[in-house]
Order: sequence, then C-alpha cells, then structure tokens
Amino acid sequence: MREQAVQDARRRVAACFVALDDTRRIVGYYTLASAGVPLTALPPENRKKLPRYPAVPAVRMGRFAVDQACQGRGLGAALLADAIARTMRAEIASYAMIVDTKDEKAAAFYRHHGFISLPDTPLMLFLPFALPNHSEMKLEQQESQSPAGVTLTGRFLNMSADISAKA
Ligand SMILES: CC(C)(COP(=O)(O)OP(=O)(O)OC[C@H]1O[C@@H](n2cnc3c(N)ncnc32)[C@H](O)[C@@H]1OP(=O)(O)O)[C@@H](O)C(=O)NCCC(=O)NCCS
Repeated sequence: MREQAVQDARRRVAACFVALDDTRRIVGYYTLASAGVPLTALPPENRKKLPRYPAVPAVRMGRFAVDQACQGRGLGAALLADAIARTMRAEIASYAMIVDTKDEKAAAFYRHHGFISLPDTPLMLFLPFALPNHSEMKLEQQESQSPAGVTLTGRFLNMSADISAKA
C-alpha cells in the first residue's frame, strides 16, 4: 500500500491520506484523484439540473480501507467525512465524489452514507455536492502562492459558497 501510494503521488495520479493510531501505525487510508462522469451516466433527475457538457467534473475515491482490527468503530465514516470535507474545501470545483466499488457489500457502505448508484453501473456510486438554491455565496479575496513559494502580487477573487449558511 505504502509503495503504491508513494508511486501514485509521484506520478500525480492519486493523493493518499492516512489515519494513524497513537503509535503512528496506519489504521486506515483513502486516495483521491480528479475524474469525470459522463453526463449520460447520471440519473435523469441529476442530469437535468446540469449544463449540457459531455462530462461533469468529479473527484474519485480510488482506494479506501480500514484495518480489520479497527473496523466497526466509526473510523470508516470519519475517513469518508474527511475525504468529502477535503474535496468540498478545494478551490477547484467538482460536481460529485465518485467511487468504483468491488462488490455489493462495499456499495452498501457508500449507500448508507448517501451515495447514489449510477443507473447502468450500480457498483459505481456518486455523491453530488450541489448546494440548495437558497444557500449564500460569498466573495473571498486572497493572496496566491506560486508552487515555488513566491507570493503573487495580484489579488484573486474566489466566489465560493458559504456551506455553513442555511444549508
Ligand atoms: C468499508 C469500510 C471502510 C468501513 O469501515 P468501518 O470503520 O468498519 O466503518 P464504520 O465503523 O465507520 O461504519 C460507519 C457506518 O457505516 C455502516 N456500515 C459499515 N459497513 C457497512 C456496509 N458494508 N454496508 C452498510 N453499512 C455499513 C455502519 O453500520 C455504521 O453505521 P452507523 O454510523 O449508522 O452506525 C471497511 O469495512 C473496510 O475497510 N472494508 C474493506 C475495504 C472496502 O470494502 N473498501 C470500500 C471501498 S471499495
């Protein structure tokens, strides 16, 4: 797992996040990567609210597991919540989180947490992030740091949703 995660991170095909216990042993992990969902794969009720682009942007939760000895104690739910919060905090928009599950048992875990099966591929599920129409939007002003650590002098406006408001 560690080797795969490091390789994926180097190639920038997935980012890995881990949960550590008191002894810094890895007891759970998940990976996130950019993805897209063809518009036609979504249920009609979700599709009709979206612009007619061929695909909508998404974040894929590629791998996700909790150490067997730690299962059933809420760690899986906490890791999933962390992944969702991390994705929603990102400044680059994504319509949904998607997961490709290996079997019905894993799919049931995601359904339990509000994910919806794609109509033609029920083991692939998605969780839309769209906010209700009445939720407030705010303009954030922030400085930007270039990858080299140089602070860019311009200021950038980011219109983001205040998800704590009236959700
Ligand atoms: C799926 C997995 C990550 C869940 O982790 P976990 O720590 O055991 O789950 P939690 O204890 O946090 O469970 C949280 C909730 O999900 C529910 N749940 C757990 N597994 C479930 C399942 N297979 N189906 C439906 N609900 C499930 C629990 O009952 C609990 O419900 P509650 O909050 O209403 O009480 C873990 O079982 C695992 O690592 N499985 C093997 C790998 C895997 O299947 N990964 C999934 C991606 S393919």
